[in-house]
Amino acid sequence: METLKALAMNKTTKKYLNKQVSESELQSILLAGCSLPNVGIYNNLHLTVVQNPHLLEKIADKIRKAFDKPDLKPFYGAPTLILVSSIKEKGNYLGVEYGNAACLVDNIHVAAADIGLGSVNLWTFVNPINTMIDELELPEGFIPIAGIGIGYPADPIESDTQNKNKSLQINCNYIK
Ligand SMILES: Cc1cc2nc3c(=O)[nH]c(=O)nc-3n(C[C@H](O)[C@H](O)[C@H](O)COP(=O)(O)O)c2cc1C
Repeated sequence: METLKALAMNKTTKKYLNKQVSESELQSILLAGCSLPNVGIYNNLHLTVVQNPHLLEKIADKIRKAFDKPDLKPFYGAPTLILVSSIKEKGNYLGVEYGNAACLVDNIHVAAADIGLGSVNLWTFVNPINTMIDELELPEGFIPIAGIGIGYPADPIESDTQNKNKSLQINCNYIK
């Protein structure tokens, strides 16, 4: 399996070619995104693929205004934005939608690296976009909670020697 290699290439891309992602590659990464171990969550998640340049620009403009940064390029020029929307969970499952969305987004991130696409985790749009629910044609009750920009990287993504020289970057305690 090449999975560890793809994980070693799990990096953020912030420079993209001015070329739209092919339909077959888009479908591959969406399918990978949906390859989740938790079958019960599918009804609570919704994906929106935004490739319309006018809508991307409109969302970007909302972000610039919200953050008061007129020169911001919030998607770094990625021509495809995939939004993950969910229904807010209550009770014992409070907040679980964020966990589900994170699993989905990371699957897409790794699958994109595997087929030579670049990607960037995106969060900044989440609040500014909540006035655009109709324009995003979301089902009732769904709100965007995570996203990822996708495109062909301007520079090839290098593998970090398959994680061989990496150490854990997050503190970890072991209880054996
Ligand atoms: C869940 C999540 C959401 C993020 N949202 C954004 C975002 O909206 N905008 C942004 O510029 N970076 C965002 N980041 C950070 C970038 O994806 C990237 O990891 C970070 O900018 C480091 O990039 P670098 O490797 O080029 O230094 C997010 C990261 C995560 C994990």
